[in-house]
Amino acid sequence: MVKLRILASVVAMSALMAACSGGGSESSETAKTAETAAPAAAPAAAPAPAAAPAVAAGPPAADDVTTLDGTVLASFTGTAAAGKAVFAQCRTCHVTDAGVNKTGPSLNGIIGRKSGSVPGFAYSPANAASGITWTKEKLFQYLEKPQRVIPKTKMIYAGLTDAQKRADLIAYLENPA
Ligand code: HEC
Repeated sequence: MVKLRILASVVAMSALMAACSGGGSESSETAKTAETAAPAAAPAAAPAPAAAPAVAAGPPAADDVTTLDGTVLASFTGTAAAGKAVFAQCRTCHVTDAGVNKTGPSLNGIIGRKSGSVPGFAYSPANAASGITWTKEKLFQYLEKPQRVIPKTKMIYAGLTDAQKRADLIAYLENPA
């Protein structure tokens, strides 16, 4: 690893020196040489950024339900009564009454529903085209960090990191009362 890095810097340095020694004495010509040399030098530096592919990763696939904290819904027993209290965080934007849209769409019958399907609600293109079906497991993943699962969603909600609370909330959404 260290050897590789030294090698990379040597390559980068020789590329730089080549860029500097080339060209005539006029400054504009030197600048031109440096400009054309720059893209050629880039591949030499490439190995380092390539080692971190996680940065470029997109959202999980529509049927992927893996969470950031590694929890799975099946390990929790959700309680609707506890979930009702958690739902206070959602109630400013959502209700569970059928056909009632606020800042967010009605969450009536959300379990098993196709995303972006509430009539009369103006979804963002991101939510509308996510291809998600809201299974309990997908909700469990989504509610942990909505922006990760649907980048560019217009739902302004950071997420619920407490897995037990997510399980409670889902039990409530399954049977709101
Ligand atoms: C600040 C307002 C706001 C809060 C708070 C909020 N939401 Fe949302 N929610 C929205 C909006 C707006 C959308 C539509 C997103 C879009 O179209 O990009 C949405 C979309 C959703 C969807 C997708 C619905 C569909 O039909 O595809 C679910 C599920 C959801 N919210 C659940 C929740 C839950 C559960 C909570 C509480 C933990 C919550 N939201 C908190 C505003 C909010």
